[in-house]
Amino acid sequence: MMIPNYSKPDDWERFNALGVTQYGQMTAGSYMYIGPQGIVHGTTITVLNAGRKVQKSGEGLAGKLFVTSGLGGMSGAQPKAAVIAGAVGVVAEINPKAVHTRYSQGWVDEVYDDLGKIIERIRQAKIEKKAVSIAYQGNIVDLWEKLADENIEVEIGSDQTSLHNPWAGGYYPAGLSFEESNHMMAFEPEKFRLKVQESLRRQVNAINRLTANGMYFFDYGNAFLLEASRAGADIMKNEETFRYPSYVQDIMGPMCFDYGFGPFRWVCASGDPADLDTTDQIAMEVLEKLALESPAEIMQQMHDNIRWIREAKQNKLVVGSQARILYADCEGRTRIAAAFNQAIRQGKLKGPVVLGRDHHDVSGTDSPYRETSNIYDGSSFTADMAVQNFVGDSFRGATWISLHNGGGVGWGEVINGGFGMLLDGSTECDCRLHLMLHWDVNNGISRRSWARNEGAVFSIKRAMEKEPLLKVTLPNLVEDQLLENLF
Ligand SMILES: NC(=O)c1ccc[n+]([C@@H]2O[C@H](COP(=O)([O-])OP(=O)(O)OC[C@H]3O[C@@H](n4cnc5c(N)ncnc54)[C@H](O)[C@@H]3O)[C@@H](O)[C@H]2O)c1
Repeated sequence: MMIPNYSKPDDWERFNALGVTQYGQMTAGSYMYIGPQGIVHGTTITVLNAGRKVQKSGEGLAGKLFVTSGLGGMSGAQPKAAVIAGAVGVVAEINPKAVHTRYSQGWVDEVYDDLGKIIERIRQAKIEKKAVSIAYQGNIVDLWEKLADENIEVEIGSDQTSLHNPWAGGYYPAGLSFEESNHMMAFEPEKFRLKVQESLRRQVNAINRLTANGMYFFDYGNAFLLEASRAGADIMKNEETFRYPSYVQDIMGPMCFDYGFGPFRWVCASGDPADLDTTDQIAMEVLEKLALESPAEIMQQMHDNIRWIREAKQNKLVVGSQARILYADCEGRTRIAAAFNQAIRQGKLKGPVVLGRDHHDVSGTDSPYRETSNIYDGSSFTADMAVQNFVGDSFRGATWISLHNGGGVGWGEVINGGFGMLLDGSTECDCRLHLMLHWDVNNGISRRSWARNEGAVFSIKRAMEKEPLLKVTLPNLVEDQLLENLF
């Protein structure tokens, strides 16, 4: 961990070269990286819930168009997630190699490099209402402009170019080929910077035309809104607020994290695929039983996650470790973990199971422009949640814990707290998993509730009813006007 004053991006280069620190990243920082499965599940949940924002009467995503960019490391999950969610997914990618990777892997169904042809295909796909993923090999700006010119109805839009790194290959400006951009960023960096900014202004203009026709657009945690505003694009609602929300502010925060739903995951230490099948089955049965008694507020999330775990194997996302990700709330995580521990004890599983989570969760990460961006009481700028999870998880029984700087949005911008817990079938484990998971999830819900987030107030009251030993102060709600007049 760095002392805050020495935690700027340039400091990282220096101290990393000196060998005294390294970039923490997120799940990798606590040995819970499970390949692309995590990002596919998270993106599926996001697209499904974005779909609910544009639906009129629960008709689903069939025939609805989701347009975005990026087929890279994380962004490459978007076409796969769009198909799982039932939509028509169209993703622009400038780098032919990235397009090829996702196509040969089967995450992209069709590839076009001709704007006329792709528009024709989109029109047909919308009529057919069949889930399909289509890549546009070219610049996202050209695609947005064509969609606007052709008056195509785009229901959902986003962007996942690497705008956290705009000047060194994260964003390719319109009007230049991939090779021309690579040359210019190396030999004429100032000119390249101006090209990026001009391109962002064009991109926002086209997006604004489509949102004026009803498209729902959200920032996907890649600093799109921030860099577009720095480029002078027409992206501000007023001096302080962007025209568009981030996906955590609008979707993941209020619909998942505030209720305690987050990316719970496990790894079967036997390495045997049969053990993973057994855990999938156990987790599904636990959630199905829980759904029978779930309140209306969380029913949708329960159904989404039951569907995910039911179809998890056929999505073929396991690489290396026999691991699974499954969004669940505190009760779901605890009951699933307890059922795994019992199955180990009874010999139904051949080996132990390691529990963990992605840090992109209700509690583990303090990141004011991403994970904690829907916490509006100022506490999103503290690192309390990650630190308290790290410390609290440790003496409640975690097998290992981690606390690290960086990850996703950059060095100095976020602190992550993570854990791993080995279940070995013992009764001691039964006790530890209850204690630790209860803290790990409710710590974040408390913070979100103190910030007056409606879902979190509901969830923490419910947690106190279920566990009378839990005492969390509730926020005193006052009129917004009264508060605003004070500052
Ligand atoms: N929302 C989330 O959950 C989440 C998770 C991880 C990463 N992110 C953020 O998303 C961004 C992308 O992550 P990644 O790992 O996929 O990065 P990446 O660099 O591997 O992929 C980005 C892709 O965008 C392409 N691209 C850049 N400019 C383009 C343009 N103008 N038109 C078409 N294609 C263009 C690049 O060629 C590249 O393949 C990062 O900023 C990252 O921090 C968000």
